[in-house]
Amino acid sequence: CGIVGYIGEKQAAPILVEGLKKLEYRGYDSAGVAIYDMEKIHIRKKKGRLAMLEEEVTKNEAKGVLGIGHTRWATHGAPSDINSHPHCNGDCSISIVHNGIIENYMDLKEGLIEKGYIFHSETDTEVIAHLIDDLYDTDLLSAVQAAVKMLKGSYALGVISSKEPDKIIAVRKDSPLVVGLGERENFIASDIPAILNHTRRVYLLDDNEVAVLTKDGVKVLDKYGEECGKQVFKVDWDAADAEKGGYDYFMHKEIHEQPKALRDTMTSRISSENDDIVLDQIKLGKDEMEKINKVYIVACGTAYHAGLIGKFAIEKYARIPVEAEIASEFRYRNPIVDEKTLLIVLSQSGETADTLAAMRLVRERGGRVMAITNVIGSTVSREADDVMYTWAGPEIAVASTKAYTTQLACMYMIAIHLGLLKETITKEYADRIRLALLKAPEEIEYVIKQEERIKEFAYKHFKVEDMFFLGRGLDNYVAMEGSLKMKEISYIHSEAYPAGELKHGTIALVVDDTVIIALCTQEELFEKMLSNIKEVKARGAYIMAIAQEKNKSIEREADEVFYIKDTEDDVASIATVVYLQILAYYLSVARGCDVDKPRNLAKSVTVE
Ligand code: G6P
Repeated sequence: CGIVGYIGEKQAAPILVEGLKKLEYRGYDSAGVAIYDMEKIHIRKKKGRLAMLEEEVTKNEAKGVLGIGHTRWATHGAPSDINSHPHCNGDCSISIVHNGIIENYMDLKEGLIEKGYIFHSETDTEVIAHLIDDLYDTDLLSAVQAAVKMLKGSYALGVISSKEPDKIIAVRKDSPLVVGLGERENFIASDIPAILNHTRRVYLLDDNEVAVLTKDGVKVLDKYGEECGKQVFKVDWDAADAEKGGYDYFMHKEIHEQPKALRDTMTSRISSENDDIVLDQIKLGKDEMEKINKVYIVACGTAYHAGLIGKFAIEKYARIPVEAEIASEFRYRNPIVDEKTLLIVLSQSGETADTLAAMRLVRERGGRVMAITNVIGSTVSREADDVMYTWAGPEIAVASTKAYTTQLACMYMIAIHLGLLKETITKEYADRIRLALLKAPEEIEYVIKQEERIKEFAYKHFKVEDMFFLGRGLDNYVAMEGSLKMKEISYIHSEAYPAGELKHGTIALVVDDTVIIALCTQEELFEKMLSNIKEVKARGAYIMAIAQEKNKSIEREADEVFYIKDTEDDVASIATVVYLQILAYYLSVARGCDVDKPRNLAKSVTVE
């Protein structure tokens, strides 16, 4: 979900709606605003996309210089007008917006019902509004402070009251929240883009901190209620970066931005002249590395797929056992972790709840945490021991593209770095991979040049309902990412399969004209892939293959071939996945889907 809040001298409603537009990628089941008009708080909220709310606010204007807004990704209670935020107490003298999940809300709700409170929605959030009301005497801040003490779970909250209309109270725990600092106006937001048109100076709230915003100032209190000297964080990225820049969809723009994103991520860290990879944000040195005997790579979604490739690279170069695991599984299985464990987490947003929880678990047990994230100042970046940023710039489309390829680059750089630290690879070998990595941006440019052909392929096959992605070794991991992209944005049912495993069951699904995307970029496994292609071809499948240019013999077997430039097998994944991103993109467009905002998904999942 997304939160925004305003207090100042301007009309709040347009500022809130504009801010919410920038946060729509965090969820878009419904949206709403609460505005104080010098007399009382007015709520406008609507199920559906933000455009519905915009229409409502135009039809049914709410004037005032204090307000909070929300865009929702449903957790408790279906998307509906009533379940949308903001929520209120009985007389609507208190209104709140909330991200996160309150785990003990049923208990709290029962207690409040006994006291006579009447509930209108099925949400956990409404409980907080009544709870604050119950605890309110004459001071909103104390009531909020008392209320959060009773909450179990995660929250970022924005609270206003008509009884004290000179302030917004904001508080967070396990859900992101920032305060924007302006001139005679101040803001809250769950993510920086929402307020970037107004200010570049922000406070990044930490867990259990409470901010009290008035028009003229902001006070941040720690969990003991003491004022803490918060550092101002200056945002140095460009608001225009977060706009579409001439493309129909953010995803299309972000696919095209990949060569630049990769150059940004790599060039300051890899030199083409000498043989160094400089990872200066990574403090993990040779001595500490000697102690590490186990590496976990933990992440969700696309980031997990980048982690699988990281596992391959680290095991190959640094000869340490690595397990790559999905965060929501890892955290609940009592993993074996001690001070000899290194956890690498990948998270584009740096706010994914399960990833964060996995990281906290490892830290509690004495392990070391290295984070790869795209968002400076994100919770993951602040809590990790070592941080490496993917300099991909803001990624807006829900389906991740440039964050993924830059994560791959980071994984390779780390793997080479660890291999050199442990002396398990030679300098010469490291150089070969380093130089191949530096060429990846050009290789992506080459793939992007084939866009028209991929588009034709997509328009020819857009009616398919099933698709299989096959690969071996690294290609298998890339296949998993390609298949996820396909499901996410085109709603085509797809499966990724290790090509050698197909004949042990899944091949039963292959019939005439089943579309199969065969990834054949790994030299060592090329012949094996050819055999697997023959197996499915014999069952009538239609094959699109991706291979390195040197392997022209693929043309004898596949119905359609797309080439990547010849490269080291290890880094072929970076260019290969771009074909799969473009394919998913055009199939999504051809099928009339909402590319950037696929149904049921959210960009940043800050609930478990
Ligand atoms: C959500 C998004 C995915 C993303 C995953 C992990 O599910 O829809 O695209 O891969 O979260 O996000 P993170 O920000 O941690 O990389």
